[in-house]
Amino acid sequence: MSEERHPFLQGLSKHRGAPPTVIVIFGASGDLTARKLIPALYNLGLDNLLPGDFHLIGYGRKPIPDAEFQDKSEKDIGQFSRRPLNSDIWPHIKKNISYHAGGYDDPKAFEELREKCLAIEKEAGRDLQFLFYISTPPSVFKPILENLGSSGLAAHGKGTNLASKVIIEKPFGRDLATAMELNQIITNQFDEKQVYRIDHYLGKETVQDLMVLRFANSIFEPIWNRNYVDCVQITVAEDLGVGTRGGYYDHSGATRDMLQNHTMQLLALTAMEAPVSLSAEDIRNEKVKLLKSIQPLKLDPHGGDAVRAQYSEGIINGEKAPGYLEEQDIPQESATETFAALRFHINNWRWQGVPFYLRSGKRLARRVSEIAIQFKQPSGSLFTDPSRFDMAANTLVIQIQPDEGTTLLMNSKIPGLETRTQPVKMHFRYSTTFGSNTPEAYERLILDAMVGDSTLFIRGDETETSWKLYTPLLEYWESCGRKGLDSYQCGSWGPLSADRLLWENKHEWRRAGP
Ligand SMILES: NC(=O)c1ccc[n+]([C@@H]2O[C@H](COP(=O)([O-])OP(=O)(O)OC[C@H]3O[C@@H](n4cnc5c(N)ncnc54)[C@H](OP(=O)(O)O)[C@@H]3O)[C@@H](O)[C@H]2O)c1
Repeated sequence: MSEERHPFLQGLSKHRGAPPTVIVIFGASGDLTARKLIPALYNLGLDNLLPGDFHLIGYGRKPIPDAEFQDKSEKDIGQFSRRPLNSDIWPHIKKNISYHAGGYDDPKAFEELREKCLAIEKEAGRDLQFLFYISTPPSVFKPILENLGSSGLAAHGKGTNLASKVIIEKPFGRDLATAMELNQIITNQFDEKQVYRIDHYLGKETVQDLMVLRFANSIFEPIWNRNYVDCVQITVAEDLGVGTRGGYYDHSGATRDMLQNHTMQLLALTAMEAPVSLSAEDIRNEKVKLLKSIQPLKLDPHGGDAVRAQYSEGIINGEKAPGYLEEQDIPQESATETFAALRFHINNWRWQGVPFYLRSGKRLARRVSEIAIQFKQPSGSLFTDPSRFDMAANTLVIQIQPDEGTTLLMNSKIPGLETRTQPVKMHFRYSTTFGSNTPEAYERLILDAMVGDSTLFIRGDETETSWKLYTPLLEYWESCGRKGLDSYQCGSWGPLSADRLLWENKHEWRRAGP
């Protein structure tokens, strides 16, 4: 047991006990497994949150001896875990880690995998839950899912509370048609309640805190609507470029990589109505209802609700950075957007007339993800002299990363012998109040999947509803090629054309960050 046990883990195991589980990770030699999944499982073990009978099988095409995979996992923990390797706990986890080599489209390898899982179950002397984590590129999602079906692994324990489960990584389709096709492939083999589509943003503390902030505090709900809110700005900004992942990124772009999934989740949780309960279905029903209320984007070469751009050479964090077209593996004629900004309108009673601005990009001024609720200016004309009254709109900022917390921007009198004002910030920081060693998103999500709580996962109709909004935009941009594709300097906050989206409503982008 860890000495560093976090206060909010006290008493958790008795409510959140995971059933005995064999977890199989497909793509276990990959980057995500090394950086996130193995460290997450280890940290769950450290917090005594892994079930007594827990086995991890890594699956990949290249044969890797069990001992080698165990050693690699140990190194990954040393490099990427939020807490160091504990030599008392690790051997108990390590001994239950093995590797299974096979093709993703090889039925025989899946038969052997099934035999291995059943042998573990037999040795345990009790029924086990099988949890499949698909952490491969999407090109092999289909054969993996079909082989899980034909080998009988998907049906293991069906009808009991130990029914098999599958976690699927993003990207969940490239457009509406491919998302629907993938949903069909999944539901041919698994019931929807066995499926856990991951969006790791939902595992982040501040994102989960959004519901608490909104519905467990009586001061916010009365003003969370068109009468008080002027606009909402959601920013997911990265300062890094595409690095060595140019080949992957060029097929994706900012809209598919960030906006369609992560920022739409943030928008849905910010704008949805209160669910009737905290159950997964009630919350997801509200999110889908909200997504369905969003008006289609206006697509227009001279304006409209969307802007896209590519970064050009510039200075970032004091260092020269190349433009997108100079990056490794990027074709010279690439029209992939590294920045996109959108303006959504929600057609319901609460939000009629309140624009929701979303932006995401690479090589922006700083790495920050936040939701900013900007309130209307106060009525009346008491503080109008700009030489004395520096005023800003009240803004509630939910900062998701880095430095998770909530900030309220208010106007205050500057101490002194005359009345002058200045905007000030009231901060709540997770790290200050709760300590800095909070669980990572993947810890929460893997535990939830083991326990069978799908609240923080995306339902099939949710992803399709989001793609319905995005597919016309992506098709339109594709038809335009590079025409209308703007550029912005590395280290800036994006192109000037993104400001136009806001000026039309007399708004300005916030300088995102604490
Ligand atoms: N990395 C991240 O930070 C991150 C974050 C969010 C989501 N994701 C998603 O998580 C999944 C895994 O990401 P990753 O970065 O770990 O991927 P990855 O390292 O590129 O691939 C994972 C494993 O899949 C197998 N693989 C790679 N390319 C393949 C191909 N063309 N055909 C068949 N198998 C192939 C390889 O295993 P073998 O050769 O051993 O079979 C590889 O080690 C992806 O869907 C990704 O979009 C990743």
